[in-house]
Amino acid sequence: MSAKGRVAVFISGRGSNMVALVEAAKAPDFPADVVLVLSNRPDAAGLAYARQQGIATVAFDHKLYSDRESFEHALQHTLESKNIEFVCLAGFMRLLTPWFVGQWRNRMINIHPALQPLYKGLHTHERALADGVKIHGCTVHFVVPEMDAGPIIAQAAVPVLDDDTPDSLGARVLAQEHLIYPMALNWLASSRLSIDGARVSLSGADPREAALIAPALS
Ligand code: GAR
Repeated sequence: MSAKGRVAVFISGRGSNMVALVEAAKAPDFPADVVLVLSNRPDAAGLAYARQQGIATVAFDHKLYSDRESFEHALQHTLESKNIEFVCLAGFMRLLTPWFVGQWRNRMINIHPALQPLYKGLHTHERALADGVKIHGCTVHFVVPEMDAGPIIAQAAVPVLDDDTPDSLGARVLAQEHLIYPMALNWLASSRLSIDGARVSLSGADPREAALIAPALS
């Protein structure tokens, strides 16, 4: 078995964050390997990329399960059979029960396109624009039963510009998601994170590394 941490990435759609994780993990010194890409939607676009990369893929159509528990038991069985150590949620648009979250306590992380604790849920860029905030961003956090919440590992902030639309702002945020998610997984898989309540600290580095401030656009 590989000495690197074995990672499953959960997707529901495009999978650009999954691609960022897979690409980062190709570096010889990256401490984790993406060995499984799992989707709750058989038509998720990201599955094709994973297959091309020779990564195992599996789709569990949640609509075919009578309840969340049976769906999640199927997920858990697959993760155990593949000796998965870490789970990365990457645009996985399915709420997970406290039971499943408990199985992966401190080993499952998520990326969310907002500066938590703001804007949990959907349409984060529209809501940021409607509120007139000048700074927006993204967050990687440990998963807890509450949606889009949990101890924060890394955040990136971007400026909101006068002529932004949800799409232009979302694209600026997404570019930062692709930077901070691999960074956070690297720290997790190399056992550099410790959690104290809501606070996560990073060993072996300047702790300011955990916040990226994207420069203003010229
Ligand atoms: C990303 O922006 C991710 O942060 C968001 O879904 C998008 C998935 O894009 N996740 C959430 O909103 C979770 N609450 P991707 O499939 O291209 O990675």
